[in-house]
Amino acid sequence: MEHILDLISSYVSEAFEIAGYDRSLGKVTVSNRPDLCEYQCNGAMAGAKLYHRPPLQIAEAVVDIIDGMDAFSKAEAVRPGFINLSLSPSFLSSYLQEMGQEDYFGVHRAEKPARIIIDYGGANVAKPLHVGHLRSAVIGESIKRTLRYLGNDVLGDVHLGDWGLQMGLIITEVRHRHPELPYFDEAFTGEYPKEAPFTISELEEIYPEATRKSKEDEAYKAEALDATYRLQHKQRGYYALWQHILNVSVKDLKRNYDSLNVTFDLWKKESDAQPYIPGMVDYLKKNGYAHVDQGALVVDVAEEGDTKKIPPCMILKSDGASLYNTTDLATIVMRREKWDPDEIIYVVDKRQELYFTQVFRCARKTKLVKDDTKLEFLGFGTMNGKDGKPFKTRQGGVMRLELLIRDINEEMYRKIMENHETDPDEARKTAQTVALSAIKYGDLSNQASKDYVFDVDKFTSFEGNTGPYILYTIVRIKSILRRYLAEMKLPAEAVEECSILPAAGEAEKALCLALTGFAPAVEEAGAQLAPHRICGYLYQLSNEFNRFYHETRILAEEKEEQRKSYIAELELTRKVLEQGIDLLGFSAPDKM
Ligand code: ARG
Repeated sequence: MEHILDLISSYVSEAFEIAGYDRSLGKVTVSNRPDLCEYQCNGAMAGAKLYHRPPLQIAEAVVDIIDGMDAFSKAEAVRPGFINLSLSPSFLSSYLQEMGQEDYFGVHRAEKPARIIIDYGGANVAKPLHVGHLRSAVIGESIKRTLRYLGNDVLGDVHLGDWGLQMGLIITEVRHRHPELPYFDEAFTGEYPKEAPFTISELEEIYPEATRKSKEDEAYKAEALDATYRLQHKQRGYYALWQHILNVSVKDLKRNYDSLNVTFDLWKKESDAQPYIPGMVDYLKKNGYAHVDQGALVVDVAEEGDTKKIPPCMILKSDGASLYNTTDLATIVMRREKWDPDEIIYVVDKRQELYFTQVFRCARKTKLVKDDTKLEFLGFGTMNGKDGKPFKTRQGGVMRLELLIRDINEEMYRKIMENHETDPDEARKTAQTVALSAIKYGDLSNQASKDYVFDVDKFTSFEGNTGPYILYTIVRIKSILRRYLAEMKLPAEAVEECSILPAAGEAEKALCLALTGFAPAVEEAGAQLAPHRICGYLYQLSNEFNRFYHETRILAEEKEEQRKSYIAELELTRKVLEQGIDLLGFSAPDKM
């Protein structure tokens, strides 16, 4: 079905044509004076120049024709030549009736699905997730869901960091703590133990310790570098130990991402790209793309017209070691070979933007990607505390994601228990659901590229532009629907059988108009990779619903058909809101 604005525009275009003017003048927009009308068309103004006629005269002629159309309840030509429009309630109600029947509420899905890989999450093995990783996970998950909803074939890849110096550091620390383990004995030929020699909490404590020591102690650092080298050259014991680290850590990461309602289709790691490096390096050399500069192998990526210097992309260091970008380039090769994507989207801290410019240019110039493969960088800003500095714990340390989630859960639990008496166990579960909405919505409602302030009080509030407010609205609707069914002693399906009648009141009509905005908002969010568009829409819809709710006696309505129509409007609002929050990556409880 057509979007409401397109549909109205086509009617108004027709009116222009019938009146003897060009169709293209009939473009309609949402009114910027909602007190006067719902929609407006400024085409008569442009027409005045084209036809050398007073704009008001054109507008009046067009309005005469529109007056005969069913879709509008009001059409007015106003000085100097605006056309002010309001929809007829019956046109609007049948539009919504049809929208409710559509599988995707009128969203125009891709005719030909694009294969899209989203590189997000980006956790590093054996390092605890910190709040910086939160943004990548939350934004990437929402974009994945949105692009999928729009009909694309989307794969989310966590792209774990498991191949750098951090692995050498951990191995070194394990070696210092347990020198007797067989992993470090080059002469050992037996089977290595199946059990990892550490738990996840030990692992998390090992990493910071090793980092600290390597900063203070040159010999320790040299050992860590050596261990990294041995691992990367697959020395048997080091490799086995690395696999233990990986297993223990990935299990923990999965648990963490699960609790965020974030899931990945691919659990690929930096190490998975390593086998592609030798072939890629050969190719770059053979085709003359790469050259040796001061011993290092580089590809120039500066382009004419650059306003700032873009340094060459280094492929191999002078000692032959590969780098972060070597892995990213090899990952592109791997992705092409295995999944042949039309597009790859990277959801990464915007401080890595220059880096990705180098990688993308290099991949393009050297034809590691096909010419029509889109490479897109979605850089996000920093999450700050109320003091405007990167978010810290109360003690001033780096905030771990788990702690942050625990804090918000506690805060939500307190609020829910304070609001009304509930069973503590149930309140715990509800608190978790609501807390997740607070965290995710707080993040997603800001434009991704901007820094934002993580304000616990604001984000957990049941009022204002927050996740809990949207959930509260959904819960309110669910409870009215439940009461309706209970009072009338009806089965759940009865809600589906209600149909929408033309809106009687002003608030009701505003709610109906807001409902028509779902598909355009989602499509725009997808096209611009901008989940905040969905948040903005859900907030507006929730506001309109709550205004309607406060002004209307829904269940006390005497006329049965009218009451049923309210129920149908409630049900459509609920479905749209629930679909919307699902695209943001969270869900609503039944009660709160
Ligand atoms: N692991 C990296 C970090 O923590 C993020 C990875 C981003 N993705 C990529 N393809 N480089 O900074």
